[in-house]
Amino acid sequence: MKANITLLPGDGIGPEIISETVTVLETIAAKYGHTFNFSERLMGGCSIDKFGSSLTDETLADCQSADAVLLGAVGGPKWDDPKAKDRPERGLLALRKGLGVFANLRPVKVHPALIDSSPLKPEKLKGVDILVIRELTGGLYFGWPKGRDIKDGRERAVDTLEYYDYEIRRVMELAFSLAKGRKKKVTSVDKANVLETSRLWRQIAVQVGAQNPDIELEHTLVDTASMRLITGPAWMDVIVTENMFGDILTDEASVLAGSMGMLPSASLGAGSVGLYEPIHGSAPDIAGKGIANPIGTILSSAMLLRHSLGLEVEAAAIENAVGETITAGARTADLGGKLTTKQMAAEIISRL
Ligand code: IPM
Ligand code: MG
Repeated sequence: MKANITLLPGDGIGPEIISETVTVLETIAAKYGHTFNFSERLMGGCSIDKFGSSLTDETLADCQSADAVLLGAVGGPKWDDPKAKDRPERGLLALRKGLGVFANLRPVKVHPALIDSSPLKPEKLKGVDILVIRELTGGLYFGWPKGRDIKDGRERAVDTLEYYDYEIRRVMELAFSLAKGRKKKVTSVDKANVLETSRLWRQIAVQVGAQNPDIELEHTLVDTASMRLITGPAWMDVIVTENMFGDILTDEASVLAGSMGMLPSASLGAGSVGLYEPIHGSAPDIAGKGIANPIGTILSSAMLLRHSLGLEVEAAAIENAVGETITAGARTADLGGKLTTKQMAAEIISRL
């Protein structure tokens, strides 16, 4: 197969982890007889520096015409001025919106050999295998009005939490369809005791649930869900939730896996170009040192092969190689080890 993959390394550790992941994909291409054409573009802070915009029209168009997009991370202290007109994160949000990728899949699995890397008690972590589906193009991140003004002589800031029924339905339907291939259970997370958007969320969840009687549906308030992720994570399977709750809960869930550096994600829409990125940020504190854990990005590339290119065998090959590498004891600094980014990637590639 021939595929065009747009790379957006971004800022901080982004370029380091993307370049190792490209080597992994090239190894896969050579082994299985595929041709992957990579084109690299700036997005985030680096794009602000060069073009004055965190996401240029050309970069978005290039992503829209690719077969898949692989992203590193964006952001950093250099672009953190609260008064700045553009921010690296704005580019990422515009990219998600521009690609129409409304569902962000964040699988959280605990590798048995990493149980001790998590601050949680080992018995809590056994059998943890969660798929968080985060709504990605709605909610507080995008609702309008948004901004600052002076009202009654006081400085005010506004963000709007807004959801349309169709936005909830499409992500809910995806959650149910993915639950069919898993434990047939969907946990819908909301704050329906307080928020109107959550009451609409729950109403749609019930409707979609009624169309899928073979799937068990439960509703959990987000505060309870955050507690249960720590006290009883093995009890959860598919979690579906709105944008901001999903952002927060997946950082929390990453602690189960031993390190944020382990977790991949896939952002999908209906007929959209898929966007693949690790869930962690640009880690400015370790950027340029070559010690970042590349696994979140490497596993994201496996999701790319599976969801955008239909290459299940190749995707599983990467996931198995990562699993074996961890079993063999290879560890980057975030996991308490000494391997560099390159060495960790080489360990994985040697098992492909
Ligand atoms: C994530 C990140 C982003 C988000 C930031 C960088 C805008 O935290 O992908 O989880 O909030 O969605
Ligand atoms: Mg986040």
